[in-house]
Amino acid sequence: MAKPSDQPSENLSSSEDAWVSVIQKMDEAYADLVHYQVEVEEKNAELEEARSFFASIQSAMSDVLIVCDHSGAIEGVNSALEQLTGLNESELIGLSLPELVAPAYRQKIDQFLSQLNREPIRDCEIELIGRDGTVPLSMNCSPRNNRRGRLVGMVMVGRPLGELQRAYKELNEAHAEVQLAQERLVQSEKMASLGRLVAGVAHELNNPISFVYGNMHALQRYTDRLCTYFDAINEGHSREHLRAMREQMRLDKAIRDLNSLVDGTMEGADRVREIVNDLRQFSSTQISEKASFDMTHVIRTALHWIIKESRAPVEVIDNVPDQLTAFGHAGQIHQVVVNLIQNALDAMTDSETKRLQLDAEICEGRMIFEVRDSGPGIEEEALSRLFEPFFTTKPVGMGTGLGLSISYGIVSQHGGELSIANHESGGVIARLELDADAAQAGEEITDDA
Ligand SMILES: Nc1ncnc2c1ncn2[C@@H]1O[C@H](COP(=O)(O)OP(=O)(O)OP(=O)(O)O)[C@@H](O)[C@H]1O
Ligand SMILES: [Mg+2]
Repeated sequence: MAKPSDQPSENLSSSEDAWVSVIQKMDEAYADLVHYQVEVEEKNAELEEARSFFASIQSAMSDVLIVCDHSGAIEGVNSALEQLTGLNESELIGLSLPELVAPAYRQKIDQFLSQLNREPIRDCEIELIGRDGTVPLSMNCSPRNNRRGRLVGMVMVGRPLGELQRAYKELNEAHAEVQLAQERLVQSEKMASLGRLVAGVAHELNNPISFVYGNMHALQRYTDRLCTYFDAINEGHSREHLRAMREQMRLDKAIRDLNSLVDGTMEGADRVREIVNDLRQFSSTQISEKASFDMTHVIRTALHWIIKESRAPVEVIDNVPDQLTAFGHAGQIHQVVVNLIQNALDAMTDSETKRLQLDAEICEGRMIFEVRDSGPGIEEEALSRLFEPFFTTKPVGMGTGLGLSISYGIVSQHGGELSIANHESGGVIARLELDADAAQAGEEITDDA
């Protein structure tokens, strides 16, 4: 049996243990609470940061943002909508979307939600009632789904059309300026090539003009003699006298010559007209409709004029068939051909052998024209830069470096191809490919034809 004196002290120690364990549990619970409190505060801070991040994005947006539920009641807006409507966020939230839309567009808006079930809505034009009248907007709408994927509303983003239109206008103006600058560039390069051709053309015009002059002088002399003879007839001179006059002035020969003198003069005038027409075609700023044209004529006139102007003699191997048509703008292609031939001649300035070879054929519906020279070729690092505007290896004043870049643009616009490469047996080969004339494409005319 236990001693009565021992019992109270035992009871006391077990109740102390119980208290200690209760206090320990409370301490633990308190520590847990403090820990959770810290976590909650951290989460709160993160949430606050995320909220202010999204709020700053929304307020920075110049586009209007509207979030609404499936019945069209507005649940969220951004400051762009507040500014546009003149209402603040608390006034806007809870409003029905159609109340913000101009009456003529309400039916359209009513259909948005059902339409969204099928597809997103893009660039739909509606008008919102703004504080200073209606404002046209281009709207994009996306569905808003809950976690289970059910449609619970929509998000609309609208860009004021005025701003869009201004951006389009600016874009159009910039585009027009670039186009104008490009046209001027093409024109100035054309004028530069034309300038180089003028010496050849002047020489070309000289020929027919000088024989027209010669013929006219002869005709003038014959006219004087005939007038003297008719005066003698009118004065009633004897037959013998008139015969003697005819022989002395060699009138019979003059009369026989008259026809050929007139024909020759006409021919000379025709030649002048042809040259002027060629020049007009080349220098024209007006772009005519694309059409079939005589490629052989384009190549030959370009070659003729350039060769006329070149000082050193050049051996020309002309393998161009007499009948070759292509499709496009003859004047522009003439400009390309002039530049290719001119480049070839320029390249051979210091070469001992100056040989220019021209080949052309129709192959698989395309007209292929090649210019080959016996110059030094093109250095590796220059090859990749040939079509860059202003790339030139010629001395100042001798080349603008625009020839190939403009030619490339012209050929691309024609759906053709232009390539320049070193030939394996020396020199450079330039290759121009264009659509052949549809009728001739079937005949496949080649050099041997
Ligand atoms: N046949 C060729 N042989 C050697 N180099 C060539 C040949 N064709 C073109 N090139 C090189 O390409 C460069 C660019 O030619 P491009 O026709 O664009 O300009 P350019 O002839 O220098 O000047 P522009 O044609 O405007 O008067 C030339 O300066 C030259 O270095
Ligand atoms: Mg050139």
